[in-house]
Amino acid sequence: MCGIVAYIGHREAYPVILKGLKRLEYRGYDSAGVALLDETGLNVYKKKGKVAEMEDSLIGKALPAKIGIGHTRWATHGEPSDRNAHPHLSASGKLAMIHNGIIENYAQLKKELVSKGYHFNSDTDTEVLLNFIEDIWLNNHCPLEEAVRIALKRVVGAYVIVLLNSEDPDTLIAARKGSPLVIGIGKNEHFLASDASPIIEYTKEVVYVNDYELAILRPDELILKNLGNEKITPYIQKLDLELSAIEKGGYDHFMLKEIFEQPQTIYDCLRGRLDADKGTIVMRGVENHLEQLMNANRIIMVACGTSWHAGLVAEYVFEELCRIPVEVEYASEFRYRNPVIHKGDIIMAISQSGETADTLVAIEKAKEQGAFIFGVLNVVGSSIARASHSGAYTHAGPEIGVASTKAFTAQLTVLMMVALKIAAAKGTISQEKYIHLLNELHEVPEKVEIALELNDRIKEIAAKYADTHDVLYLGRGYNFPVALEGALKLKEISYIHAEGYPAAEMKHGPIALVDETLPVIFVATKDSYHEKIVSNIQEIKARKGKVIAIVTEGDEMISSLADDTIELPAADEIIAPIISVIPLQLLAYYIGVYKGLDVDKPRNLAKSVTVE
Ligand code: F6R
Repeated sequence: MCGIVAYIGHREAYPVILKGLKRLEYRGYDSAGVALLDETGLNVYKKKGKVAEMEDSLIGKALPAKIGIGHTRWATHGEPSDRNAHPHLSASGKLAMIHNGIIENYAQLKKELVSKGYHFNSDTDTEVLLNFIEDIWLNNHCPLEEAVRIALKRVVGAYVIVLLNSEDPDTLIAARKGSPLVIGIGKNEHFLASDASPIIEYTKEVVYVNDYELAILRPDELILKNLGNEKITPYIQKLDLELSAIEKGGYDHFMLKEIFEQPQTIYDCLRGRLDADKGTIVMRGVENHLEQLMNANRIIMVACGTSWHAGLVAEYVFEELCRIPVEVEYASEFRYRNPVIHKGDIIMAISQSGETADTLVAIEKAKEQGAFIFGVLNVVGSSIARASHSGAYTHAGPEIGVASTKAFTAQLTVLMMVALKIAAAKGTISQEKYIHLLNELHEVPEKVEIALELNDRIKEIAAKYADTHDVLYLGRGYNFPVALEGALKLKEISYIHAEGYPAAEMKHGPIALVDETLPVIFVATKDSYHEKIVSNIQEIKARKGKVIAIVTEGDEMISSLADDTIELPAADEIIAPIISVIPLQLLAYYIGVYKGLDVDKPRNLAKSVTVE
């Protein structure tokens, strides 16, 4: 995690870096800092807290530097504090460095440096790596770039680093392994950032730096090398991203904006792919590997968090439609196990950011064992996209609110289209059902629009339950993962303890929690489990629990039982999760807002989890 920004060129660096850090704050907001080099020397300003706090502390200060580096932190080594904030200064004070990632063998390197007399001002692995580089640089009297190369050969872990050298005011040195780094190419200027959002305002020409590459940047020159000191020709790409896509557009929070974008993002995801009239789905990533996908012995969904919930829904869909066994794995568990992977297994890596470290390493391991990797990803050109054999993008646009919303519904949409394509090719779905589901998918954006009209009703319900301490989310079948997702949203946005369960599992333990103070949210739209879930609602009511039910419009039975009802347009049970999650997203959002919390930047979280 952590966001990094750097600039070298003819502009004042500080405003460019500050704006960029604000855009990257979704990656961490425990502290922020900048290092600027001008005639007065190398100056570092850093502060615990959000970027705005660092900004306030610098108001009125002349900061004319044309070269600088900046960082917004998600703490790993060392608590959030001023002294652990980046940039760090080397022992000589000549070098400043920012870092995103984790240096796993930092303890060993630190021990070596301590034995040479080094002292450390922070608890970070970053300061260790910086002094390790400086030690090589000063002792070998070599160019800094060479010292970086030598040092990185000893480093175990993940990093993007950017170094500013007070003895060389026209050069920035950056390197990457395992964390993202984009270089923006302007006219006599260069930008560096963790993603393209700090860059698009200035240039659309970018280079995505690969693992084990080192970049040497001057205003008018970009040199890329590998760790073996061989030059690499930079592959310049054009960004397909507009500034408006990363701004709030009149909403109070990115999360709310992103929830309301869903009719459009789902439409964008379907556009050019699904044609309900012709009965076709066009997905090159599936078509080019259709034989392999059809003949899969097994599909393993690998993901984390909300993306893992999308994988769970997909398990139900793929098994039902394609008759292929599916397993859904937490990437963090899968990568450390010794999983049995056969040739013919398909790994579906689901990730919004495409940078989640656990998911990335998990697929790399599976690839080594011969698995075929299909990515379901939102960020074009991301690390997981590049590590996949094939895949399909979700086209949800940049998701900036830390809680995932529009990416989830886009993941479901993509996964359902992939399942339908495979099922049609395998003949495991009747033509009638295939056409029916295509039509149902085609209607999703409109139904999501209708679900969003319930905004005011959900706001009222949120006000009623904002003071609660625990919430249970229950669902069955396709709606069980939606219950899990609803609970996760509430936890992360409102800090209220919430648990998701399959509704029938309740009587094997969680029902002991139920009393008149416990709100229980049922995701109970009409499906083949409907009668069963009605019985589960009765069981909660019999124990005086408060029931909030998400139902299909006209469901008088459940409405008569529930304390609060949210009615959604009817949809096929396979498609329903894309719609039934919408009120749960809004509920979590409004409860968070009622509690006065920063819903776009919940405590302890970051958007892109690039540490394991
Ligand atoms: C929850 C959330 C996280 C992410 C998880 C995976 O709202 O956003 O649980 O879903 O960190 O991230 P990606 O999808 O980027 O791999």
